[in-house]
Amino acid sequence: MQASKITRMFIKPTLGSGAAGVIAWRRHPDGIRQVLYCAIAIDGSRLFNSNKIHSYQDDVQIRRIISAVLQQENIVECWLPKASVNGKSYDLRVVCMDGKILWRVVRTSSQPITNLHLQNQASEFASLGLSAAKVAEIDALCLNAIQLFPDIRLAGIDVLLTRNLTPYIIEINGQGDLIYQDAQNENHIYRAQIQAIRSQYV
Ligand SMILES: Nc1ncnc2c1ncn2[C@@H]1O[C@H](COP(=O)(O)OP(=O)(O)OP(=O)(O)O)[C@@H](O)[C@H]1O
Ligand SMILES: [Mg+2]
Repeated sequence: MQASKITRMFIKPTLGSGAAGVIAWRRHPDGIRQVLYCAIAIDGSRLFNSNKIHSYQDDVQIRRIISAVLQQENIVECWLPKASVNGKSYDLRVVCMDGKILWRVVRTSSQPITNLHLQNQASEFASLGLSAAKVAEIDALCLNAIQLFPDIRLAGIDVLLTRNLTPYIIEINGQGDLIYQDAQNENHIYRAQIQAIRSQYV
């Protein structure tokens, strides 16, 4: 990081899910101050996965957490700064099936890891007020990406919008379809899945 003058990065276990072991780490260019965000909690000699994001600034704790996560294979990425709405940063979960977008949910957070089970807040996609052209760009990105996997019919795609609203896919989930915003209302996502199964098998 020092050699490349990179001050912030994500470390993500290759085989993780639900943000377990995911680390967002920022170092001040002074080489002294730093902050690390993750769902890992520390209890004496034990590190464990918790249900909220903690922030750490202490060098010893940060070293412990990073050393533990680096025991397995990881993906190391640039930390892309996210767009924000009402003072919180956000990204999107876009659920696609059979070449169509079924749902888009906004995941807002006051820290950089937005998974909804980590006490972050879901909000309506329409409330972002994105232009029709931007929505079409995000949809096309997702639908083009999923076409690369012709045997996969359904996916939950995590899409990050940078501060100038450039969309990037962070990851593609094999399911990623449990979205309470929809499941507790019209239930579009699971209805569409049942219809697809019916039309193929019944
Ligand atoms: N490169 C990145 N820059 C900024 N934020 C990121 C980056 N990578 C991941 N994040 C944030 O961290 C969260 C967790 O990362 P990611 O989605 O890759 O793994 P995961 O959530 O463990 O997987 P799953 O969605 O299957 O549970 C993302 O939702 C996003 O908010
Ligand atoms: Mg994810």
